[in-house]
Amino acid sequence: MKNPRIVVDRTKLRENISFIASKLKNHELSIMAVTKVFNAHPQVIALYDEFPEISYYGDSRIENLMSYQDSKKQKVLIRLPMISEIPEVVQYADISFNSELETIKQLDQEAEKQKKKHKIVLMVDLGDLREGFFEREELYECIQAVLKLENIQIYGLGVNLTCYGAIIPSSKNLGNLIDIQNEIKQHYDLTLEMISGGNSSSLYLLDSPKDILPKGINNLRIGESFVLGRETAYGGEYEQMHQDAFTLVAEIVEIKVKPSYPIGEIGVDAFGKKPHYVDKGNMKRCIVAIGQQDVALDDIAPKDKSIELLGASSDHLLLDLTHTKQEYKVGDEIEFLMSYGSVLSTFTSKYVKKEFIR
Ligand SMILES: Cc1ncc(COP(=O)(O)O)c(C=O)c1O
Repeated sequence: MKNPRIVVDRTKLRENISFIASKLKNHELSIMAVTKVFNAHPQVIALYDEFPEISYYGDSRIENLMSYQDSKKQKVLIRLPMISEIPEVVQYADISFNSELETIKQLDQEAEKQKKKHKIVLMVDLGDLREGFFEREELYECIQAVLKLENIQIYGLGVNLTCYGAIIPSSKNLGNLIDIQNEIKQHYDLTLEMISGGNSSSLYLLDSPKDILPKGINNLRIGESFVLGRETAYGGEYEQMHQDAFTLVAEIVEIKVKPSYPIGEIGVDAFGKKPHYVDKGNMKRCIVAIGQQDVALDDIAPKDKSIELLGASSDHLLLDLTHTKQEYKVGDEIEFLMSYGSVLSTFTSKYVKKEFIR
């Protein structure tokens, strides 16, 4: 059984990593590769391991950090730790991102128990309104308290943008991170190892004619760009990179000419939503064996542009093949281009097989 499957072109992925890695090296930025988008798949990790330019692996799930303990890279928990997972955080993460003093105190106690020093990156919220200290006073009070803890090292500062609030990184907002770093140096005589200036959305600043990445930012955390070959502030595709290193393949299980408009009283669909249909007369309708349990409809696009996506229930994806040049038949495979969301969800689905080529 081989379908549905996600096909990873190793050569294209390697070329993507090389391109971004040399770009970051030229700007003296260390690299944290974010591994959650491919669910820390061991074969992708083995490929990332080939790159000495990658110093850190970051993931939001402890289970993923646990899965690559043998790798030499430093492992970073990039979601704020849950109090209930603190023993695992200290055991499996070298570094964790934090914004709550209570959590840090518990990390300290656990680190003492495990006879370890645990490193933390303090997250600062510069407007995206997800995680991080919003008030500088609270951050400085926290630092003062943490400096008294024996088993915690303040390793750096970090910010995350273009996630919840979709805020674009700029020299203005990222400049605040450098100001804070300078104040910390002044007040506490504390030199921080890592100033992590965001994710794939900060990459555009390395080439922008209008703005720059402020001096002092020395790390970026890269998930999507490696995988999909684009920066994520404006969605700009790098022509030197591959946007199709990952392809989704699903198999046709039915092709029939049927009406485009359902017959009978219309209620709600499989997900409780009231659907809207346009009557286009009869069409060549096709079902492929993949569904919303594996992937959201908006996150994939057929490579054959003449195929139209009609909709999906949990296990069935419906396509319109009326205008295709190719004569598809039952058993044929349809290929889809992928987005961040579809790489994430299909790698997480146990029903979607993973194939590695080249
Ligand atoms: C804290 C943090 N840093 C970095 C990333 C990586 O973001 P991207 O995939 O846009 O590079 C994420 C998202 O996965 C994140 O939550």
